[in-house]
Amino acid sequence: MKRANILVVFLTLLVLNGSAQTKKPLSTEEAKMNTFISNLMAKMTVDEKIGQLNLPSSGDITTGQANSSDISKKIKEGQVGGLFNIKGVDKIKAVQKIAVENSRMKIPLLFGMDVIHGYNTVFPIPLGVSCIWDMATVQKSARIAAIEASASGINWTFSPMVDISRDPRWGRISEGSGEDAYLGSQIAAAMVRGYQGKLQANNEILACVKHYALYGAAEAGRDYNTTDMSKVRMYNEYFPPYKAAVDAGAASIMASFNEVDGIPATGSKWLMTDVLRNQWGFKGFVVTDYTGIPEMIAHGMGDLQTVSALALNAGVDMDMVGEGFLGTLKKSLAEKKVGIAQIDRACRLVLQAKYKLGLFTDPYKFCNAERAQKEVFSPANRQVAREVAGESFVLLKNNNNLLPLKKSGTIGLIGPLADNTANMYGTWSVAALFDQSVTVLQGLKNALGNNAKVLTARGANFLADSTMEHRYVNIHNPTYKRDPRTEAEMIKEALEVAKKSDVIVATIGEGSEFTGESSSVTDIQIPETQKNLLKALAKTGKPVVLVLFTGRPLALNWEQENIPAILNVWFPGSEAGSAIADVLFGDVNPSGKLSTTFPQNVGQVPLYYAHKNTGRPLAEGKWFEKFRSNYLDVSNDPLYPFGFGLSYTTFNYGDIKLSSNTLTKGKSITASVTLNNTGKYDGKEVVQLYIQDLVGSITRPVKELKGFQKVNLKAGESKTITFNISENDLKFYNSDLKFVAEPGDFKVFIGTNSRDVKEASFTLK
Ligand code: BGC
Repeated sequence: MKRANILVVFLTLLVLNGSAQTKKPLSTEEAKMNTFISNLMAKMTVDEKIGQLNLPSSGDITTGQANSSDISKKIKEGQVGGLFNIKGVDKIKAVQKIAVENSRMKIPLLFGMDVIHGYNTVFPIPLGVSCIWDMATVQKSARIAAIEASASGINWTFSPMVDISRDPRWGRISEGSGEDAYLGSQIAAAMVRGYQGKLQANNEILACVKHYALYGAAEAGRDYNTTDMSKVRMYNEYFPPYKAAVDAGAASIMASFNEVDGIPATGSKWLMTDVLRNQWGFKGFVVTDYTGIPEMIAHGMGDLQTVSALALNAGVDMDMVGEGFLGTLKKSLAEKKVGIAQIDRACRLVLQAKYKLGLFTDPYKFCNAERAQKEVFSPANRQVAREVAGESFVLLKNNNNLLPLKKSGTIGLIGPLADNTANMYGTWSVAALFDQSVTVLQGLKNALGNNAKVLTARGANFLADSTMEHRYVNIHNPTYKRDPRTEAEMIKEALEVAKKSDVIVATIGEGSEFTGESSSVTDIQIPETQKNLLKALAKTGKPVVLVLFTGRPLALNWEQENIPAILNVWFPGSEAGSAIADVLFGDVNPSGKLSTTFPQNVGQVPLYYAHKNTGRPLAEGKWFEKFRSNYLDVSNDPLYPFGFGLSYTTFNYGDIKLSSNTLTKGKSITASVTLNNTGKYDGKEVVQLYIQDLVGSITRPVKELKGFQKVNLKAGESKTITFNISENDLKFYNSDLKFVAEPGDFKVFIGTNSRDVKEASFTLK
């Protein structure tokens, strides 16, 4: 190695690792990579280095306001590090060719995309997947998404979205894994493993954990809004999933739009360097969200040059669409507002990602038309999507075992989602084949053959008002053709169908775009026109099954009181109709459990199970008591608690047996229960373990999820389910932000959801 190069490697390692003393010895692979990149960077101009930090959108799919033009010219001039929202192997291959053949440094591009819950084969929305509580299945869905995306030229997905949210008003609650730090962390890690694998094969792609940090805690559930919370809450309740994804080796992380502690995340050195790199040891690169850098101007952080320097100095490496880096960093370097070390750091991290993907060896590694032909939307993948969807459904109510339905008689399938292809997918289905999902009507017909009849009626539009309906359903993709008839005419037709039916399946709720980015609401009920339909159907006296489509927890008080069976199917994806038929007819026994609390009404929001007790808690089972922490008009209870979900069978929990009532530091104890399938069906149950720390140096939640197991039991079968509890499970961040377990008394709960549990106690010595 030349002397100059050795010096570059050494200086870079100093910058990356803080000090030479603390750095770990490099593996041969890492040393090889560093030498390769150092040699490359030694030949790059400052402009070319800054070019690597630029991530324009191809314009195929528009999100946000900004538009980049003249992309191929920029690629030739070395002003582009990656591109996103470009779809199709041929297009991607052609663009990659420009980079590796027509730019001076011939550096290949990253190709990113929001592959959020599948590519052509679409899985349930992430909130649905999070109700599966089985990490092998979660990982498998990400694996298939990576296989299909990579076969189509994509080497970087902007997923997993791991933002904890406790606010159903926020449209993006549909994209995450719900309200809980523990469950969210397990899912974050499983998704990263699924996408990235070992990052060696041509079907393993970069994950991008987003949106760091606290994006799901936007005030009033309004998208992009301010967040403000204590550091103990950040560390204990909101940070864990990001950290879990980092621990699982996530290659990149996306800065969030919101501010954190008074500074936009994109410009926060505390977040991007102190916490992410220094405390968590993150080794990958940080990308902004869409125009995250210029948006700091509106946040009030200064002009474009100032905010771009702020972001780079904070530890941000790549600028999505904003072109603040491209336009201003050179000037800032001349004016000493940024140093070459910062530009080099960012450039090196982007190049490292490309190196790890193997793009320097084969820039077309992910462009394989033959593989795309065979592996995308394959029958095998669609079969997995069907199974995953079935596992994600949550049975919220089933009076008198109305479900499963018999495959006989006449079924009245009614509602705007009865025969609707495009709205089976949910938000962020950027590669979905909109006309190729299995509709509910198709799914039911396929399952029934000639054994039963299905009659249908639309019954209602999504919303009564056409302008509002356009805003809710059709702004992104015109997926819904409105029925021009009046509400009364549509209900009349539905009632005629109902009259001829033995049972009514009402497919009602939200359309795909009711949730997702920039889709916040202040009313979380089923829209009135659909509710009117449901009321009319209920009045017929025929049994009604509500098959609920939603991307957020809804307030379903009326439905819970008046409809005998409610199956929440979220947005099931490509195989929606087949999966719904599987569950409605009992070929699959539902086993999904809510990952987020369903409130009684929007005024209770945020409502979550792991809350603190207050100094004036309401006694259990009470509705109201003066001078206690409660409301005049509604009890503190949720409609459906976190972890809730019914089955066609019933499970009985025995009492908790602890191996010891004392846990010594460094040792562990076990907590066991006997679980008995007491019903008539084989079924899966998610056994949940919660812990409460009774006395702490800071106030502690009334209950925190600390373990779960999904078990399969035959009808009549019993099994002993055992959890290990160690000191680690009792640790939390104290007011000095130290991760500690404090000796004292703990309660342990095991049960079928966060409310219905058995209880025992132990002491940490
Ligand atoms: C979203 C991100 C997404 C990005 C790129 C933004 O508007 O907030 O989640 O990855 O667009 O499409």
